[in-house]
Amino acid sequence: MNKEIKILKNGDLGRKKENKVFFPKGRIVDEKAEEDITSLLKNKSKARDMLIENLHLIQDKYKCLHAKHLTALATLMKMPLAEVYEVASFYSHFDIIDNDDKPAEITIRVCDTVTCEMMGAKKILKNLKEKYKKKNIRVVNAPCMGRCDTAPVLEIGHRHIDNVNEIKVEKIIKKKNFKPEINNYINLDLYIKKGGYKILNNCLSNKIKPKQIIKILKESNLKGLGGAGFPTGLKWELTRKEPAPRLMAVNADEGEPGTFKDRFCMETDPHRFLEGTLLAAWVVEAKVCYIYLRDEYPFINKILKDEIIKIEKKGLTKHCELIIRRGAGAYICGEESAMLESIEGKRGYPRHKPPFPVQEGLFGRPTLCNNVETLFWIRDIIEKGGKWFSDFGKNGGLGFRLYSVSGRVKNPGVKKAPAGITVNELIDDFCGGMEEGHNFKGYLPGGASGGILPASLGDIPLDFGKELDKRGCFVGSGAIVIFSQKDSMRDIALNLLEFFEDESCGQCTPCRVGTEKAVKLLKNKKWDKKLLNDLNKVMTDASICGLGQAASNPVNCVLKFFQNDIN
Ligand SMILES: Cc1cc2nc3c(=O)[nH]c(=O)nc-3n(C[C@H](O)[C@H](O)[C@H](O)COP(=O)(O)O)c2cc1C
Ligand code: SF4
Ligand code: FES
Repeated sequence: MNKEIKILKNGDLGRKKENKVFFPKGRIVDEKAEEDITSLLKNKSKARDMLIENLHLIQDKYKCLHAKHLTALATLMKMPLAEVYEVASFYSHFDIIDNDDKPAEITIRVCDTVTCEMMGAKKILKNLKEKYKKKNIRVVNAPCMGRCDTAPVLEIGHRHIDNVNEIKVEKIIKKKNFKPEINNYINLDLYIKKGGYKILNNCLSNKIKPKQIIKILKESNLKGLGGAGFPTGLKWELTRKEPAPRLMAVNADEGEPGTFKDRFCMETDPHRFLEGTLLAAWVVEAKVCYIYLRDEYPFINKILKDEIIKIEKKGLTKHCELIIRRGAGAYICGEESAMLESIEGKRGYPRHKPPFPVQEGLFGRPTLCNNVETLFWIRDIIEKGGKWFSDFGKNGGLGFRLYSVSGRVKNPGVKKAPAGITVNELIDDFCGGMEEGHNFKGYLPGGASGGILPASLGDIPLDFGKELDKRGCFVGSGAIVIFSQKDSMRDIALNLLEFFEDESCGQCTPCRVGTEKAVKLLKNKKWDKKLLNDLNKVMTDASICGLGQAASNPVNCVLKFFQNDIN
């Protein structure tokens, strides 16, 4: 590994080295705990950015984080104990407990976000809590697990159960098989047989130039599919213009409620995604690329690890090292600057912009951040041409994308459809119509943040900007949730605001306090419209990042479009 990368990985670039001797102020380190952690982290990096990875190792082994282990970790990593606590307590997948307490043998996480709630999650949660309260089984609620098409879902250990019922839970607990389940996917041999890695090989042997790739991407009109819709070709061009060394970070956090298309990409055709990633890294000359993967996808972690080793052996990663970093259960880490903080081993606090990641990202270096699906389409676009891609759009949209459709339709799932398709077309042509006994009443055009629209506005294009923008809504990551006459929009708005309240990182007051107050107001029998509107305005205008700025969208929309549900 060259020196430049080593420096970047240690996170020291651009900072002065301090030669101070480390002294653990005012803390007593338990000898046994120190031995435990020293042996667990033997041969593991103690660099500052590895804090979250090291916390995962402890949590995995002991099923919790004992206070004494955190003290030992802080000493071993030469960090202030307060900082270790600060990070460990930020992420919901870390359980800090007192030294004398025992962790639960098994943890069941029940998704209670929007689609799962519609499909009966609250009742499942209540029944399981009651049933297992005397056994050493902990039952907790959890946010969207990226499996909304098979709602309701839950996770036992690292194993997910789709369309869950109590019998299924009992069976898994009896078998004690809590490992992630891995489905069949297109492996390396098959991928190569079907022309995979040809484009990358052409790039690596200089048969194609970076500028040609950027040109094709610009022609394709591919826009970032993580939610913001920034033109991909332009982003790559801007990154290349920044001074080297440059880095790359893939956003595989997929936390937006209702979204599960990145999971689909990585678990069915991982090499298409990896080739896109390696092509991007080649174009921007990033020597290291971090893949920030949400912790809810342990099966993908295994797939990617296995497949990355194979392509390393084939010499396809010589120009760029791929490193997987595990998230730890924080929606906000999908916001790109919070993701960068998390990769650096810190709390996921979004950064003020500018500077943008392209200018100053990971460890202070220019960093290309792209979503999984954005990268998934790169190979096809370069192979078949920019026009091939942009020709797919309809109703003014350009290209195609994967919409995650869930809720009251006959066939929910990931639907590859033209950009600009309407929700009516999606329901009728891609989802087999509405579920029996359900009439189309309204929908989320873009997950929890993108607002709620009534069925009467079912003919507007699901695309960035345009008609959705005019209604104060957005398509974001393409998470479409369909509601029927059996769903109360009051309850939906409350569920979404509770999600934002839980997931607000707490850095700024309008969002931290605003989401909490909004939840309280929404629980009142009679909604105080004036107060809600005031609160919405403050949150939208004064929050630091997109979470707080968009959190009031569901409430605004219910006030605007679903008066009958609140009167
Ligand atoms: C609150 C919040 C959550 C986000 N979550 C994700 C996410 O889970 N995955 C993702 O790719 N982008 C997410 N984004 C968008 C990213 O900040 C960023 O725009 C994207 O990763 C850039 O990649 P792209 O240009 O390929 O879309 C989120 C944004 C906000 C404000
Ligand atoms: S808007 Fe919310 S999530 Fe974003 S920085 Fe402020 S508190 Fe954190
Ligand atoms: S998996 Fe439950 S709402 Fe997405």
